[in-house]
Amino acid sequence: AAYDLLVVGSVNADLVVRVDRRPAAGETVLGSDLEIHPGGKGANQAVAAARLGGGVAFLGRAGTDGNGDLVRDALRGDGVDIGHLVTTSAPTGVALITLGPDGDNSIIVSPGANSRVSADDVASAGALFSAAAVVSLQLEIPLPTVTAAARAAAGAGARVVFNLSPAAEVPDELLAYCDPLVVNEHEAEFLGDPRPEGLLARGPRSVVITRGADGAIVADRSGVTEVPSPRVEVVDTTGAGDAFTGALSLRLARGDDLATAARLAARVGAAAVTRPGAQSSFPSTGDL
Ligand code: RIB
Ligand code: NA
Repeated sequence: AAYDLLVVGSVNADLVVRVDRRPAAGETVLGSDLEIHPGGKGANQAVAAARLGGGVAFLGRAGTDGNGDLVRDALRGDGVDIGHLVTTSAPTGVALITLGPDGDNSIIVSPGANSRVSADDVASAGALFSAAAVVSLQLEIPLPTVTAAARAAAGAGARVVFNLSPAAEVPDELLAYCDPLVVNEHEAEFLGDPRPEGLLARGPRSVVITRGADGAIVADRSGVTEVPSPRVEVVDTTGAGDAFTGALSLRLARGDDLATAARLAARVGAAAVTRPGAQSSFPSTGDL
């Protein structure tokens, strides 16, 4: 394939403030200086795969504002093909992120331009789907667009990796294309039965459950495998799941079996929590 990976998804400017504790309703707390980083679950996955040497194309939308330049420059700087990152009149997506003292985060996303990524965008990028070994999807763009992208990928013979994040109800048709469906423990609970067998019963060909410091569980019809995560010092977990999924997608594109791909992805996700920011924390092959 011309590309290892096509990511159809979101780009955000991440506005990050560190706080000792989060405010309750009606309360004001003072935090750190503002940091602005390129982010968005889709863009993060694309950058994670590109840093590991992947050929990556991106389909999405960003605005004409300064945040749009930030996210476009970041993707281009990592060698991601942004020929299908459409410029649109809505504000670029923004993530308002508070970082707690333990490196824990809470995030509010204003989708902006991401909410304009359409099934027509998918249709007009048809050739890209045939050119990619893997198509990687998340849920920060409209669900009908994600479903259309999965259908286009399946029709073109590409493998679909779908991260159900942020968690939402999705149609069975979408789940049936997934190989794998990638969820964290919270997202697995959201689907009802969080056990690997329960998730497989929803229809995906395979599943990966990420468990932070506890590694991942990989399952398909042939069985369930536990994958360890290296023990690391947590600085900032933002984007670690995206780093995992981007790396997983790349290794699947290169022909690894699911458990082998997940082992490498767990190392990439662990490296990402040891440094601040999302994309800024993702390792290159030499860092691993
Ligand atoms: O998964 C982390 C990402 O979620 C951040 O980069 C932020 O943009 C939000 O979309
Ligand atoms: Na990080």
